[in-house]
Amino acid sequence: MNASQSPGRFADRDVVVTGAAHGIGRACAVRLAAEGARVAVLDRDLAAAEALLPQLAGTGHRARAVDVLDDASVRAAFDGLAAHALVHVVGLALAQGEFEESLDEEWTANLDLNLLGAVRCTRAALPALREHPTSAVVLVSSINALAGLGSEAYAASKAGLGALALNLTRTHAPHGVRTNVVAPGTIRTRVWDGQPGMPDAWAHWYPLGRVGEPEDVAAAAAFLASDDAAWISGHTLPVDGGFLANVR
Ligand SMILES: NC(=O)c1ccc[n+]([C@@H]2O[C@H](COP(=O)([O-])OP(=O)(O)OC[C@H]3O[C@@H](n4cnc5c(N)ncnc54)[C@H](O)[C@@H]3O)[C@@H](O)[C@H]2O)c1
Repeated sequence: MNASQSPGRFADRDVVVTGAAHGIGRACAVRLAAEGARVAVLDRDLAAAEALLPQLAGTGHRARAVDVLDDASVRAAFDGLAAHALVHVVGLALAQGEFEESLDEEWTANLDLNLLGAVRCTRAALPALREHPTSAVVLVSSINALAGLGSEAYAASKAGLGALALNLTRTHAPHGVRTNVVAPGTIRTRVWDGQPGMPDAWAHWYPLGRVGEPEDVAAAAAFLASDDAAWISGHTLPVDGGFLANVR
């Protein structure tokens, strides 16, 4: 725990984190537990999800398997789960050819994982979220959704999360459910493994002089999931070391 964290901000609250076995989702689970949450660690990698539990502060955490590509799996994973907040992290930039050669299959795969995955998880979480007077959804997008950086299929799938947050705000904020998006820049996770020099080779793109760490995203997600963001809904918060100031 560091000075910027508020112990107890999630005291006695249940938070579901998807994609929580690795990377950014894992950092979110660690951070939320450190702030008092009981965390449901949902991931396709159940072994890694279960291995995380003893490393989380506090008690009452649990792990469940989920494949966000499969609506039945999502519904089973959320069945009976309490949720004051959902932090939906699962996603990946799936391979896509140059735009003119790109295949429908590449577009469908990106949309299915990144946009429909978020739809499935949010849809499944809403009944539990609505049991509380106030609750929150945080969706993890990317700066690719906010600038023309290539990977069009991934960018479009993540941009859809912004539209989802706007529309869920219109329909569900009146019932106390806030929905926001975080849009990370380059973050040091295993997705860069096997690419020599990455991710630090891109540090020069970032005015703050470094690429991001999973904890940078977790801090923003925890803020948006907490009551500190009680009057914020429908927005996308870049967590990007100033990157967008360079390209806009
Ligand atoms: N790493 C970056 O540079 C970066 C930058 C911007 C946005 N993001 C976004 O952040 C999110 C997390 O990325 P990361 O770098 O931590 O990746 P990661 O691969 O380290 O973590 C992703 C997690 O999701 C799980 N997962 C993957 N497919 C799944 C499925 N079908 N069902 C259930 N679980 C599944 C994996 O097991 C893993 O635990 C993604 O949405 C990604 O698009 C990452």
